[in-house]
Amino acid sequence: MSDEHANPAPLGIDPSASRRIFLLMLTLGLGAYVSFTLMKKTEPVPAEVSKDPLLAAGREIYLARCAGCHGTTGKGDGPNAKSPAGPPAGDLTDDVWKHGSRPEQVLGVIRDGSKDTAMAAWRGILGDESLRAAAAYVYYLAGREPPESLRVAAAR
Ligand code: HEC
Repeated sequence: MSDEHANPAPLGIDPSASRRIFLLMLTLGLGAYVSFTLMKKTEPVPAEVSKDPLLAAGREIYLARCAGCHGTTGKGDGPNAKSPAGPPAGDLTDDVWKHGSRPEQVLGVIRDGSKDTAMAAWRGILGDESLRAAAAYVYYLAGREPPESLRVAAAR
């Protein structure tokens, strides 16, 4: 019964094999976790987004960088929507945007941020094209047609 010390492999499993089995299980577990995470991210992309490269790029950026505050659908209901100081992330699907709805205004607030609020300037993090894509996606979330000027480089 208690002769583990006498027999190093009481179950007849070679310790190095059991280590290999453990590593295999670990790898399978990690693999399952990774594919689950990837599948979560690749939930159905609406056709009007997937057929438009600018919106498709904007969606990726938005979900990765903006949805935490603005919410996945832009309603301002992300987990970090309320900040200790300054106004909350507003509802991007509202009819009126606080900072204006001209493309240069929407692009401007994303690029330069909103002073004394949680809305940071993204210019150091996102390049010109990504900024335009994110802005276009904000229009999309609000049910508005993304302005053509956001499709061309150096739109200001
Ligand atoms: C840390 C939270 C946070 C993140 C992350 C964030 N925002 Fe904001 N955003 C805010 C807040 C707070 C405001 C409101 C600013 C104000 O009232 O002036 C805001 C305002 C805005 C506005 C202006 C809305 C209006 O009514 O004029 C736009 C557009 C916007 N964000 C887009 C984005 C985009 C695009 C991203 C990702 C690249 C992003 N935000 C990431 C918190 C955030």
